Amino acid sequence: MGGAAATLGPLSDVSALSALRLFDGTDRAALEQVAVGFEELPFFAGDVLYRQGDPGSSFLLVTAGRLAVLRVDGLEEHELLEAGPGSVLGELSMLTGRHRMATVVARTDGLVLVGDDALFDRLVHLVPVHDRVAEVIARRVAELTAPVPVALADGTPVEVRPLLRSDRGTLDDLIQRQSDETLRRRFFSPGHPGPRVVDHLVEINYLDHFAWGVTADHGEAGVATARYVRLRDDPATAELAFGVADEFQGRGLGTLLLGALGWAAAEAGIDHFTAEVLVDNLPMRAVLAKAGGVPEVPSMGTVHVRLEVAGAKALLDRRAGEALRLAAREVVTAAGLALVEPG
Ligand SMILES: CC(C)(COP(=O)(O)OP(=O)(O)OC[C@H]1O[C@@H](n2cnc3c(N)ncnc32)[C@H](O)[C@@H]1OP(=O)(O)O)[C@@H](O)C(=O)NCCC(=O)NCCS
Repeated sequence: MGGAAATLGPLSDVSALSALRLFDGTDRAALEQVAVGFEELPFFAGDVLYRQGDPGSSFLLVTAGRLAVLRVDGLEEHELLEAGPGSVLGELSMLTGRHRMATVVARTDGLVLVGDDALFDRLVHLVPVHDRVAEVIARRVAELTAPVPVALADGTPVEVRPLLRSDRGTLDDLIQRQSDETLRRRFFSPGHPGPRVVDHLVEINYLDHFAWGVTADHGEAGVATARYVRLRDDPATAELAFGVADEFQGRGLGTLLLGALGWAAAEAGIDHFTAEVLVDNLPMRAVLAKAGGVPEVPSMGTVHVRLEVAGAKALLDRRAGEALRLAAREVVTAAGLALVEPG
């Protein structure tokens, strides 16, 4: 909490929480449970609550006043947005153990509540809060994603962009078209996955679960997805999964998507990937090996592969890389700020 002059004290009044839109629909008993973990910190116009690059072990919930969220890029500093009451700030670096990704400066006098990761976990598991976070993230990401055009090695044009909830139908079509062998390799069992599995594949928060989607024919046909899911007990590591349409396999998409996942993961504080691959899935093993993936001794027909995110990032060539890097960064930043209420 570099720079803030005032000192912390326990939260005195739970009504500071119930007034916030974030907690609409949350009952008082649940709020009281959350409230005990918070400490209050008054701030004054001009205070720096934290700086980009600081270590972060807490998150802030703004209950009064306005704060600017600033990002320094090289020598330039720009305001990402202004945060008002109800905003949650700093949770991403707290959860990932990474340094603060932005600087937060008070524009007015006000008050924040300071909490730790155990408290954040309790907060996002309150059902109304969880639903609101999911809805805001989905809306923000949908608003800002522009597809990145990429040409495969054979010249075929495709478009790559973060997968959205609204892609459920397209993804379902893609899964229905897949061969039994592709489904076996992807889901480790024959046959089509049920609707719950498909729902889960588009329930994406872009921080712990990120997915790219690829379309061909000017966005008409879904031809691939690739995702990672952060491990709960090791937040700097995420598990990979890929699915490329049969007619697009062997044309470079798996390699491109692993590179693109690498850039998104780096933005979200992930430094290693793991994958569980069927022993006979040689194309997947080949793609992972290109990124430096090291296989463990196979067991029960599968092989566990671990690789550095840096190795995945290196797979992207410069032309596709620059645009996908920017798209990944924009989406992860937006998801990281999803709990900000405009000031
Ligand atoms: C595995 C999969 C994602 C790879 O995507 P892709 O677009 O086919 O991959 P790429 O074209 O980028 O690369 C495939 C690589 O495998 C290599 N390969 C293909 N068949 C191979 C074989 N029998 N032995 C060794 N290498 C092989 C190719 O030569 C290529 O490597 P190269 O680019 O160095 O030549 C895709 O094939 C797929 O969706 N398969 C079915 C689902 C699946 O397996 N999902 C993964 C579950 S974790």
